[in-house]
Amino acid sequence: MAHLFNRNVLLGVSGGIAAYKSAELVRQLQERGARVRVVMTRGAQEFITPLTLQALSGQPVHTELLDAEAEMGMGHIELARWADLLLLAPATADLLARLVVGRADDLLTTVALATPAPVLIAPAMNQQMWQDPATTANVQTLVERGYHMVGPAAGEQACGDVGPGRMEEPAVIAAAAGALFESGLLAGKRVVITAGPTREALDPVRYLSNNSSGKMGYALARAAAEAGAVTTLVSGPVDLEHPAHVTVVDVESAQDMLDACLAHTAGCDIFIACAAVADYRPKAMADDKIKKDADTLSIELVKNPDILATVAAADNPPFTVGFAAETSNVLDYARGKLERKGLDMIIANDVSNRDIGFNSDQNAVTILTPRGELPLAQAGKDTIARQIIEHIAAALESTA
Ligand code: C5P
Repeated sequence: MAHLFNRNVLLGVSGGIAAYKSAELVRQLQERGARVRVVMTRGAQEFITPLTLQALSGQPVHTELLDAEAEMGMGHIELARWADLLLLAPATADLLARLVVGRADDLLTTVALATPAPVLIAPAMNQQMWQDPATTANVQTLVERGYHMVGPAAGEQACGDVGPGRMEEPAVIAAAAGALFESGLLAGKRVVITAGPTREALDPVRYLSNNSSGKMGYALARAAAEAGAVTTLVSGPVDLEHPAHVTVVDVESAQDMLDACLAHTAGCDIFIACAAVADYRPKAMADDKIKKDADTLSIELVKNPDILATVAAADNPPFTVGFAAETSNVLDYARGKLERKGLDMIIANDVSNRDIGFNSDQNAVTILTPRGELPLAQAGKDTIARQIIEHIAAALESTA
C-alpha cells in the first residue's frame, strides 16, 4: 500500500456535492500516515461544515484569506510551504478554471499559486460540465503544467445524469496521493541506522551522556522506510515517537549499541551511524549509589568501542555512512574520518552554528565521499534526510 507517513497533506475542498466525501478522505489520508490540514472555499462550507473537518483532522480548518487572526496562526504562505502535497478534492469546474488563469481571490487559489508542492486534483462535476470543451481545455492546460489528476469516475450522478464527473472514491484518491511519493529508491534494501545519545552508567542511578536529541537519525529512518527499505533503528534513549514501518531496537550504552548493530548489520546493505556515542565510559560501574562523602571524586574512564569503524571493518561490510559534527575545520576533519574509519560516505555538519545540528529541527550538511563533496543547503531535518537517502541510493547504484 502506498503510504503517506511523515507527509503533510493540505486538502483543498471546493463547493460540490462530493464535498461530503472529504470527511472520509481525511480519514483515508490519515490511515496512510499523513498529517492533514484542510482549506475550504466558501462554496464548500455550504455542503459540509468546517467543524466536521476540524474534528476529523484535529486541526483548525482554514477558510479566509484576509483574516488577521488566522494569519497570526498559520498564514497562507506558511500553509503553502507546510504542504508536501496540495490535494484538491473535490475540484469543481470553477476551481479548475480559476487555477488555469492563476486567480488568487480566495485562500485556496492563493495557496495553490504559492505552494512549491505537487498538486493532485480530483475533479467532481456534472457530466455535461466535465465534457464541455472549456473544462477539457482547462484540464489539458493543468496537466501540461504538471498538475496530477485522479478521476473523475463515471456513473450515476447526484443530479440524476449518468456519465463521467463523479469524484473518485476517497480510497482511490488517497492511494493516488501515496503513489506520488513512492520512490522505491531503496526497495528491497536492508538499512540499519543508529540514533541518539548513549548512557554510560556510573552507578545504579547515574550516568554519563550527552545532548543528542536523535532527531536526525529518526528523520533518516523515516526517509529510508519511505524509500522502501527494510529499516532498523538502533536508538539510544530519546524522547521521540517511533517512526512507522521501522523496527526500533532500544539500547542504553555504547556496548549495547555495538551488540545490537553487530546483530543487525550482518548481511545488511547500508549502515548509517548517526548516534552521538559516548567516547568513554566509567571503567567500572559502582554496585551501589556513590556517596558524597569525599570532597573530590575521580572516575577512571575507558574508551568505548567505535561502532562505525567496527562495522566498516567487518568482512563484506555494508555501504557505510558516518556523521562528523565539528566546530572548526569541518570538512578537513570529516575527510580525515572518512579515510581513517574506512567509510563510503560521511555527512559533515558545523555544530558551532546554533541554528542547526544537535537539538534543532534544522540542519545544513556537506556530503563527502572518496570522490568528492556536495553541500546541502539548510533545511528541515526530514528534507535533509530525504536528500541524504537519495545520494546514498545513487552512490550504491554506481558501485553496483
Ligand atoms: O570519531 P567521531 O566520534 O567524531 O565520529 C563520529 C561518527 O562515528 C558518527 O557517525 C558516530 O555515530 C560514529 N561513532 C560510533 N561509535 C563511537 C563513536 C562514534 O559509531 N564510539
